[in-house]
Amino acid sequence: MPVTSSPVDHPAAALLAWYDRAGRDLPWRVKSGRAEPYRIWLSEIMLQQTTVEAVKPYFAKFLATWPDVTALALAEDQAVMTAWAGLGYYARARNLLACARAVARDFGGRFPETEEGLRALPGIGAYTAAAIAAIAFGERAIVIDGNIERVITRIAAIDTPLPKAKPEIRAVLEGMVPADRPGDFAQSLMDLGATICTPKSPSCLICPLAEACVARARGQATAFPVKPAKKGKKALQSLAFVVLDPQSRILLSTRPAKGLLAGMAEVPNTAWSAGPSGLQAAPLAADWQRLNQPVIHIFTHIDLRMEIAVARLSAVTPALEGMRWVDVGKLDSEPVPTLFRKVIEAGLRALG
Ligand code: ADE
Repeated sequence: MPVTSSPVDHPAAALLAWYDRAGRDLPWRVKSGRAEPYRIWLSEIMLQQTTVEAVKPYFAKFLATWPDVTALALAEDQAVMTAWAGLGYYARARNLLACARAVARDFGGRFPETEEGLRALPGIGAYTAAAIAAIAFGERAIVIDGNIERVITRIAAIDTPLPKAKPEIRAVLEGMVPADRPGDFAQSLMDLGATICTPKSPSCLICPLAEACVARARGQATAFPVKPAKKGKKALQSLAFVVLDPQSRILLSTRPAKGLLAGMAEVPNTAWSAGPSGLQAAPLAADWQRLNQPVIHIFTHIDLRMEIAVARLSAVTPALEGMRWVDVGKLDSEPVPTLFRKVIEAGLRALG
């Protein structure tokens, strides 16, 4: 769509002209015209706290398996969790399915078209509702994600620490969002943040907003956004048990329905705690060997160090209550999150 004022007159116009020329081609994106709400919703849920590159193969797989929201609503929980495995933040996958079912059941398979209507659906928070309303439905919603926070705090030199700076960021955006292309505007800020206005070394020389940017004028782009003082992370440890039986089956269990990695598959492992665990916690008697290398996995609030013990059984053994033997060739049909995938790979490598 044409923009009436000249790019240098208005930062939003400069930004949109840059987006038309240099915005990224992404599988869910339609650069001129309206994108499909299902694709926008799915990509936005996947992109929360995950990179564009990591999302691409998952997005393609979901679309190939469940081409629309009605198809996804009919999927088995386990199939969706398995397809999601590796993306992290598994509560999002459960909410994704709950949302698809709500849209199919309550709205005849059509997403509500307003920010407010979208916000009422499972798993759709303030950011996602605004993003879908703007990108899929052309509503002049105010979209604020991490990239947009960075760009706007720099342009306006907002030195209030995040997240307190949100109302000021919103006020700046209120004055900038164009009525005719709010979705492209939001995505242009996201792309600018991802490719030019980057956290550590912004490319101010080629930035379409350089003239409007107060932080750049002061030579202080990287001083924004101001971050809040960091809260301590917990350092936890555990010991995981990778055991193979004579039929090349591995012992798995299912995590509790609530909490971190809820309902996902795992190998037996000791309670995550501040100190190390011993082999006496093993799920069955075997000739356990401890590996030298732990798997280190970083969650939002936890740095986990998972030690690994491995064993090979010489006889078929019944699985303990709540556990099951799974053919190692069939692990791809299990919802194994990245942490346990790394643990299993290290364990199987050691077992040869
Ligand atoms: N990150 C989240 N949503 C995005 C989008 N629509 N375009 C680019 N990056 C994004």
